[in-house]
Amino acid sequence: MKLWGGRFTKETNKLVDNFNASISFDRKFFKEDIEGSMAHVKMLSKQGIITSSEEDAILKGLESILSDINEGRLEIGDEHEDIHSFVESNLIGRIGEPGKKLHTGRSRNDQVALDMKLYVRNEISEMNLLLLHFLKTIHNIMKDNTDTYMPGFTHLQKAQPVTLAHHLGAYFEMFKRDRSRLADTYARMNYCPLGSGALAGTTYPLDREFTSSLLGFKGATNNSMDSVSDRDYIVEFLSDMSLIMMHLSRFSEEIILWNSNEYQFIDIDDSYSTGSSIMPQKKNPDIAELVRGKTGRVYGALMSMLTTLKGIPLAYNKDMQEDKEFTFDAIDTVKGCISLFDGMLETMKFNKENMESSAKNGFTNATDAADYLVNHGVAFRDAHGIVGQLVLHCIERGISLDDMTIEEFKSISPVFEDDIYEAISMKTCVEKRNTTGAPGAQAMMEVIARNEEYLNN
Ligand code: ARG
Repeated sequence: MKLWGGRFTKETNKLVDNFNASISFDRKFFKEDIEGSMAHVKMLSKQGIITSSEEDAILKGLESILSDINEGRLEIGDEHEDIHSFVESNLIGRIGEPGKKLHTGRSRNDQVALDMKLYVRNEISEMNLLLLHFLKTIHNIMKDNTDTYMPGFTHLQKAQPVTLAHHLGAYFEMFKRDRSRLADTYARMNYCPLGSGALAGTTYPLDREFTSSLLGFKGATNNSMDSVSDRDYIVEFLSDMSLIMMHLSRFSEEIILWNSNEYQFIDIDDSYSTGSSIMPQKKNPDIAELVRGKTGRVYGALMSMLTTLKGIPLAYNKDMQEDKEFTFDAIDTVKGCISLFDGMLETMKFNKENMESSAKNGFTNATDAADYLVNHGVAFRDAHGIVGQLVLHCIERGISLDDMTIEEFKSISPVFEDDIYEAISMKTCVEKRNTTGAPGAQAMMEVIARNEEYLNN
């Protein structure tokens, strides 16, 4: 059934029907469409626009459609233009005359604006929970690894020693910000467009505040033209998701490096890795690579949405139908990536000895050796030069600073004493860094306590 056949004298071209239809993807929010219709009908009846027996009949009809779809008794067929026509025609088929009153005081423009908002709102909540679970996984690893020493890098060169807890703590912050961005998006979008009609409201005495409270919104939107053409929240959500993917992608890159033969910092569990069809020895980090790869696709959705919207005059235009497929795809992609990454991290083994020896062999304690000299009265610039000589000496012999004898130390600077070994041990290097946010155990425990509180809230 078409919702708009009246003024037409010819059948639409079949290709036009196919090109125009959105049923193949907007069937995804059949629940939201029915939920919105139920609220609308309750409001129409409260306002005396339909009778309460009409309300009862429509609600019963909508409920039966919902349960029939949920239980597989009713299929959403491709012959319909969109989910709105599908539900309305099915309703009329079931209950007859009262069904024809469902669309009173409503347009598909405010209807679809509502459906998409309800859908996105649910997805934001689900994504938020997935991120929360993921943060708990990161948190548990952090708690167990406040003394797992590893090199911290700048320019992908070993720089100063940190701990695994500290390194993962950086990701904890990123995903925590991601959750707060989702919450911001949710709060800003949480106003109900239903009752805006096609663009200019309606002449019926609708109670928009009532509908909006039935649907759990903070209030009704302020401007009916904006209501039917606002897709800002989709751009925001896509942008939130792009940042989540960017963070996951950076994390993936590290997992891929750490998993390589050169690093051997981690072992990805067999259940989260794959093999090669030709090279029997290989165990590949495909999940991390795919997460990194899928990031482009979510950015693509963001660019697509921004581009679609840029030239659209007020109010609703059909271009806006293009808001759905990419957004749905991005949502599925991001949710899948968070869950898989979470599982991969939870089952991963960290090779603590390799991490620590990598930190030692990369002169990550060179700054601390210079600090030692400064504490013994040497000017920092001179200390920097002396430690540079130590490093050169070690490189020539293929050893680390800790492996040098005290005679070797003294031959380069007489200031060194036996306590240099203690001063440049990984433990000392890390433990002395206790400024807020630094890797020292004391500073780290404070952060972990704050994170714990955050997770329990
Ligand atoms: N399928 C449409 C969309 O997704 C629904 C709104 C149609 N409105 C209209 N005036 N044709 O945007």
